[in-house]
Amino acid sequence: MEKNLTVELKKELYQSIYMRKSIRKYKKEKLSAQQLADINGFLKQVSVLDPEIKYETKIVNSDAVKSLIPIKAPHYLQFFSEAKGNYLLNAGFILQQLDLYFAANNLGSCWFGLAKPKKDQLAESELEYVITLVFGKPDEENHRDSVEDFERKSLSEIKRGQNHYDLLEAVRLAPSATNGQPWFLVSEAAQIHLYQKSPNFIKKFFYQKMNKIDMGIALAHLWLAVDHLNRDFKIEKLAEVPAEVEGYNYLCTLKL
Ligand SMILES: Cc1cc2nc3c(=O)[nH]c(=O)nc-3n(C[C@H](O)[C@H](O)[C@H](O)COP(=O)(O)O)c2cc1C
Repeated sequence: MEKNLTVELKKELYQSIYMRKSIRKYKKEKLSAQQLADINGFLKQVSVLDPEIKYETKIVNSDAVKSLIPIKAPHYLQFFSEAKGNYLLNAGFILQQLDLYFAANNLGSCWFGLAKPKKDQLAESELEYVITLVFGKPDEENHRDSVEDFERKSLSEIKRGQNHYDLLEAVRLAPSATNGQPWFLVSEAAQIHLYQKSPNFIKKFFYQKMNKIDMGIALAHLWLAVDHLNRDFKIEKLAEVPAEVEGYNYLCTLKL
């Protein structure tokens, strides 16, 4: 088994950024054993932000999941992680590669922040439950034809600076909880500073966790877009906030 994603696979994931969408209607049938094995094989090859953070994934049926507003799907992938460091960013970064893999393989998926595992499921893992991704065969159109079909903020609302259009566009199209798009980018010649929206007091409880996962998703899109240009990707947190952006908190800097 390959340890890292192949060049071809990364290219497919990158292209999926421009056509993916959340799928909430699924055919009842399960995926084949081979398809499920391929998914688990893919998960062994994904990139991580922090190799020191342990995590595990479990593919379960609907009877292991509870939610006030359900999404009916044949499969639910539950993500568990050691709760340390940037584990929520790490979770978003890892699972977004899988979300794009589904789109690239004509399957459907949707992040499912409202889901919770049932109690016995929780007891089975020593790690903290983070989030669920549902997936299966789509029972609705599963690709977008063009970037105009994405409901997103304009680039000018989420960035400052004139550099690296392709990289910023890849972030702009990323999915986020309730489509909140909590990112802001300050783009300079050799670096991009990433910021996260500061949630207001009322939204804080739910969004604190979800927005961190969203930022991990944005980083996955950035990574694939940088890689597509055959360039390297290094993330740092600068000791001093590089620039103030009203309503947003500095998260990290991408050195190009
Ligand atoms: C962290 C996260 C949690 C989400 N939770 C849910 C959810 O519980 N239910 C749901 O229907 N969609 C959920 N979504 C999907 C978003 O609503 C969706 O990504 C967003 O509206 C953008 O639409 P698109 O994915 O079709 O581009 C979630 C997305 C993210 C990134």
